[in-house]
Amino acid sequence: MPEIAFVNGRFLPLADATVSVEDRGFQFGDGIYEVIRTYGGRPFELEAHLSRLDRSAQALGLRQPYSRQQWTQFVHEAIQRAAFPEAKIYVQITRGVAPRDHAYSDDLLPTVVMTIREFRPLNPSVRAAGVEAMTIEDIRWGRCDIKSVNLLANVLARQQAKHAQVFETILVKGGEVTEGAVSNVMVVRDGTLITAPEGPLILSGVTRALVLQIAQQEGVHIREQSCSQAELYSASEVFLTGTTVEVLGVVRIDGKPISDGKPGPVTQRLATRFLERTL
Ligand code: PDD
Repeated sequence: MPEIAFVNGRFLPLADATVSVEDRGFQFGDGIYEVIRTYGGRPFELEAHLSRLDRSAQALGLRQPYSRQQWTQFVHEAIQRAAFPEAKIYVQITRGVAPRDHAYSDDLLPTVVMTIREFRPLNPSVRAAGVEAMTIEDIRWGRCDIKSVNLLANVLARQQAKHAQVFETILVKGGEVTEGAVSNVMVVRDGTLITAPEGPLILSGVTRALVLQIAQQEGVHIREQSCSQAELYSASEVFLTGTTVEVLGVVRIDGKPISDGKPGPVTQRLATRFLERTL
């Protein structure tokens, strides 16, 4: 089955999908996005992703071209047309096409793009062993809560992780952990789950919210507050949450083992409960 795309209301093969070079997404990174994945062929937490898309659009004064109902229909149609066992749906809205000028006029027609690719889950042996991460300075802008396509700092962070052959970079701002380059970070210390609070310093993950809800139901004590880099190293458990990583234990950071170097019991319990929610 060929990979497919959707451009401004029309489905077509991914290889044939194009947008103008004058698109503000290309010129300025003036756009927003979402990444949604399927479980059993069904889009997971679609409502939460579409709500965040609305929030990002509102924060940038971007016109939402489609209603919630239309979006839902397009996403389902995309999944059906592609017919992958599991799919990753990428949704992007940019402010539209205009002669290059930083300031914009309010009547631009937004550009909408979706791509649908096969989603290949992480190897179960990698998941069982946990992954390695490295810390780097968080050099991103002051509105990380907006899921903007302007991802240059995240791109550089991921490239550093790739060169260092580690799974993720954990971003640190002023000595405090914010989040991962493509995930949220959670730390367990003295049985308490600690994660950075919602606000402009992090992207409020759909998975983060669900995992916090599950943790609460499981009776895990939660503190939404920042955690220092020193506290990260001496944590009893560290894990990542995100659409593509789900709940994933981090067992080494900057070459130092976390606790005994294996995914801990809270991580494992929450990973199991999380997977139950996807069935
Ligand atoms: N990334 N923080 C950042 C910076 C992210 O880019 C992501 C997701 C998350 C987790 O959010 P969620 O649980 O809603 O997926 C947190 C996506 C997958 C990406 O950019 O590809």
